Parts: sequence; C-alpha cells; structure tokens
Amino acid sequence: QNNYKVVVAGAAGGIGQPLALLLKQNPLVSRLACYDIAPVTPGVAADLSHMDTPAKVTGHKGPEELGSAIENADVVVIPAGVPRKPGMTRDDLFNTNASIVRDLAQCVASKAPKALVAIITNPVNSMVPIASEVLKKAGVYDPKRVFGVTTLDVVRAAAFIGEINGVDPRSVTIPVIGGHSGVTIIPLLSQSQPAVKLSDQGKIQELTKRIQEAGTEVVKAKAGGGSATLSMAYAGARLTNALLRGLNGESNVVECAYVKSDLTEAAYFANPILLGKNGLEKNLGYGKLNAYEQQLLKEAMPELLKNIKTGEDFAKK
Ligand code: APR
Repeated sequence: QNNYKVVVAGAAGGIGQPLALLLKQNPLVSRLACYDIAPVTPGVAADLSHMDTPAKVTGHKGPEELGSAIENADVVVIPAGVPRKPGMTRDDLFNTNASIVRDLAQCVASKAPKALVAIITNPVNSMVPIASEVLKKAGVYDPKRVFGVTTLDVVRAAAFIGEINGVDPRSVTIPVIGGHSGVTIIPLLSQSQPAVKLSDQGKIQELTKRIQEAGTEVVKAKAGGGSATLSMAYAGARLTNALLRGLNGESNVVECAYVKSDLTEAAYFANPILLGKNGLEKNLGYGKLNAYEQQLLKEAMPELLKNIKTGEDFAKK
C-alpha cells in the first residue's frame, strides 16, 4: 500500500526542509503536506513537487491552513519551533516551543485523532508530555501513538562506533535509552552489536559523554549558525519511515523512541520499541545494564522527571 498521508509541521525550517526532501522519496507516502508559518512554505512545496516520486506534495501556510494540512493524516512529524535568539532565556524558548507543540497537538486531536505523532521540537523530554496531555484533554489520547524522536542519539552512537571499530555504521546496533538531552541520553554501549572495540572503561566513559554532548559539537562547529539540522532530518525521516513500515504491516520494525512508559519512575522513557499497525506494538525494554550504565540511569532520572513535570505543568495551565 502506498497510501499514507504524512504531515511535516515546520516544513520550511532547517530541519523541516531536508526532512520533507527525504520523506518525498518514500514510496509508502502518497501525500506529503508541508505546513509552516513561513512565507516560503508554498515554494518549498512547489519545489518538492517537481521531484519524480509518487508522493503528492501540498503546501499550507499559516494557522488558517493548518486544518487542511493535518486533516486525515496518518503521521504528523513536528520539527516546528524557534531556535534560541540573543536575549531569549531558556524559559522564553520553552514557552514558545511549548505553545507551538500544544497548538499543533490540539489540531491533531480535532483533525486527525488517529495519527501517529513524532515530535522533534526541543526540549523533546517535555514536549511529548505536553502533546500527550493535550490529546488526553481532548479525549483522544493513545499512548501508542505519540513519539519523541530520539533517533539522532542512536544514529550518532552508531556513527561513532562505526568509526572506532572501522566498520560500516549501518551494521551497528546500539540502544540509547532515557531522554533526549545531556545526561538523560544513556547509550548502552555494553549492548552494542558488534561490541565496541575500546579497551578500557575510561574510553567507554569518554564515548558516552561524546554521544550525550554531540549536539554541542554541531552548535560549536556552526559558529552561531544554529544546531543540528541535516543529521536531525535524517534521523527524523528514519523514525517516520519506520512508523510507516509498521502501519503498512511490516514485521520486526524496531527503533528507539521516547514514549509513555512504566518501566521506570519516569512516565515517559526512551528505549527500543516494536512498531506495528497501531504505532507502538510492544515496549522491548532495555535489557541488563552494567554498573556504569546503572549509574548513568540514576544520574538521568532527576533531570528527566523534572523535564516531564515541566511539560505536564505547562499543559495544565
Ligand atoms: N507553526 C508551524 N511552524 C512554525 C511555527 C508554528 N507555530 N513557529 C515556527 N515555525 C517554523 C519556522 O517558521 C521555521 O520554518 O518552524 C521552523 C523551525 O525551523 P528553524 O528555525 O530553522 O529551526 P530548526 O533548526 O529546524 O529546529 C527546529 O527542532 O531540534 C529542534 O531545538 C530545535 O526546537 C527546534 C526545532
């Protein structure tokens, strides 16, 4: 079946444009709706529509065209947001992005209540609880259908391990659990397949820190020009494509994502999940942690709990 409607909300952005480019190439997508508030949005859609792949692309600009974008969507991917500008505090940024995600989730609730929702907008740890609360209030919440995109953490871990081991990074499987920022990112290097070729624990800890802080590597290298967009788009497309393969009945589709969870005291938690016709089919958990990984989990928990509470408090306002 190539009959799925995918919406990119924030399609004119640094992440949104390459994300839409990648999704336009998926033969499972029959309709690709590009939504954004930026004036360039219809142009982005027109540009993509000239690609010779089956997906029909439509552009939707501004809140009055949001409904037509979201209507009957199978998957809604959300990279909409604002980057931090000079003079803006973290709280300002949070409130702006939180309002954007809240409004988009409200529209999903009314126009596409069965859609799978994949959230890229940061802070992901808080945005997934916000969208979930909004859908709950509207009476259409299904925890199997809301995902925080943590795929970039997995992609980075595999890229770095591929480099260290001298193998194709696509042959590396590595679970990354927890959340999607700093100490909440917990790469389970002990479970990497193939095993990471690092001799001592010091090097394992260095690699762990590199994965946790990889976003900062990009921010520094872009020298004021923003944060990760291209690798994030790649990662967002990878999760979206996996969601579509699951919807389409493919078996054994497994990805890490940040979802509603009762595995730990955190109400939302990332780990490998099995995807299927209804979204999350089965939470696969995270297996056995070694002593170092247990310590990382302990360090992550207060931050993750705080992030979740911040999101829930915002949604309740
Ligand atoms: N509805 C839809 N789109 C919006 C809205 C809104 N209410 N507000 C802003 N946007 C759009 C902007 O017009 C822009 O095209 O979101 C896009 C964001 O793109 P960039 O500013 O280039 O930011 P980007 O680097 O893509 O990051 C977006 O993803 O990783 C996270 O932290 C990052 O939250 C940020 C988001």
